[in-house]
Order: sequence, then structure tokens, then C-alpha cells
Amino acid sequence: MPQNNELNNMPRHVGIIMDGNGRWAKKRSLPRIAGHREGAKTVRRVVKTSGEVGIEVLTLYAFSTENWKRPKEEVSFLMNLLIEYLFKELDELIEENVKLRAIGDLTGLPLDVQDYLQNSIRKTTNNTGLILNLALNYGGRDELMRAIKSIYKDIESGTVLFDHLSADLVDTYLDTASLPDPDLIIRTSGEIRLSNFLLWQGAYSELWFTETLWPDFTKEEYLNALKEYSKRSRRFGKV
Ligand code: IPE
Ligand code: IPE
Ligand code: MG
Repeated sequence: MPQNNELNNMPRHVGIIMDGNGRWAKKRSLPRIAGHREGAKTVRRVVKTSGEVGIEVLTLYAFSTENWKRPKEEVSFLMNLLIEYLFKELDELIEENVKLRAIGDLTGLPLDVQDYLQNSIRKTTNNTGLILNLALNYGGRDELMRAIKSIYKDIESGTVLFDHLSADLVDTYLDTASLPDPDLIIRTSGEIRLSNFLLWQGAYSELWFTETLWPDFTKEEYLNALKEYSKRSRRFGKV
């Protein structure tokens, strides 16, 4: 653990694009799903560490709106893995005072996943520690499209006045409503792109990339990323 003085200036909200499970497995001549299973262990570590260092919100990109284009066996494995993760971890999450939340078009998930997820969220609803925000069937463009449609409807019905439209109002229509914007976005596996993750909210996020594949991402490297973030100078357009 770093000393307390190294933990100053922590991000409030960290977003992680957990990438590289497939390549981790390929390197070992294992099926891609073995990489996802190993990746779930990293999730466990990162959630625990986030709570320990006092992060307020951890958003994990677990399944994108584009990931449906994968082979259907892989998609259903990932859906089952989510249920399995919640089944195995929920008690510990509750114990660690973690509050679960999800973003994305949850109505597009298989019904059993929706049920299991909503039940798990309900069971953590009174927790006051780390918010573990799972991005499932999430795409930044899809989220914005859904927000635009809702805003349009509300303008049409007179609930919202056109003249009152503002960036702050848009915020309240997004899946992340009431959450702070991500201060830091981490991506593993050497890809230098956002792949449709938190496009609106990430306008001023600090970005941090590593070649490490997600299953190999350690607590030490995560703490390193947080430490590096803490030294960055965020100007938000000012001098
Ligand atoms: C990230 O690992 C997990 C998900 C996108 C669900 P990948 O499965 O994308 O791994 P690579 O990029 O093929 O190595
Ligand atoms: C981004 O990873 C999505 C998740 C981590 C859930 P991908 O592996 O799907 O992204 P691309 O295809 O490399 O951009
Ligand atoms: Mg990938």
C-alpha cells in the first residue's frame, strides 16, 4: 500500500475499459472464455482496492453495445459470467458496503440477467461505500440517443421547456445521472481508444493506458495509475 500522503488527490470516479481477456487466453492456447474467467478475478481485486483507497465511483465497461457481434457462445458465456460474478461476490460486496449500479440499455439484456442484476442492485441499495457501476450493453452513442429521445418526448409533453435545455439538463437524462464525471479512464491491453465508453461524461477525463492485459492487471499497477493521476494537472481549458 502506498503511504497516505501518496493517496492525496485521488479521482472521485474511475472508469475502466477492461480489455485483453481474449489475447490473454490466446497467449496460453486457451479458449477466449478462459480469459474472461481470469478477468473476473481482476475485477475482484480492483473493486476491493477501489474501496480501500476511497474511490467514490468505479465504472467497469463489461459489455458494449457492439459486443453482441461476437460469436453467440462467447456472448452467452459473458452473460452467465455476470450472473456467476454477482452470485459469488454479492455477500462480500454487501459486507464491503459497496453499492451496485448499472448503466447501459439494460432492457436489451437476457431476462434472467436483468432479474439477477436488479435483485443484486436492490440488495446493496442502502450501502454507502464505493459505487460499483457496471456498464452493460452500454454504448456512449446509444446512451445519448436514448437521452435525446427522452428529452424530445418531455419537450413535446411540456415537462421540459426548450429554452431550459442545457448541458446540465442533458446530464440528468444520461444513465450516469447524479454521478460525477469520470476523472480517470483506464484502458488495458495496449489499445488507445475509447470504444464508445462514456463519450459525453469523459470530455475532460484523464486517460491512462497500459499494455498489460486485463487478467494480468495487478493491484500495484492500479495503484500506480492512481498515483500518476494524482500528479496530473487538470486545467479544464483554463491557464
Ligand atoms: C475484454 O476483453 C472483455 C470484453 C470486451 C467483454 P476482450 O474479449 O475484448 O479481449 P481481446 O481484446 O480480444 O484480447
Ligand atoms: C471495449 O472492448 C468494450 C469492453 C471492454 C466491454 P472491445 O474489445 O470490445 O473494443 P474494441 O473492439 O477493441 O474497440
Ligand atoms: Mg478487446
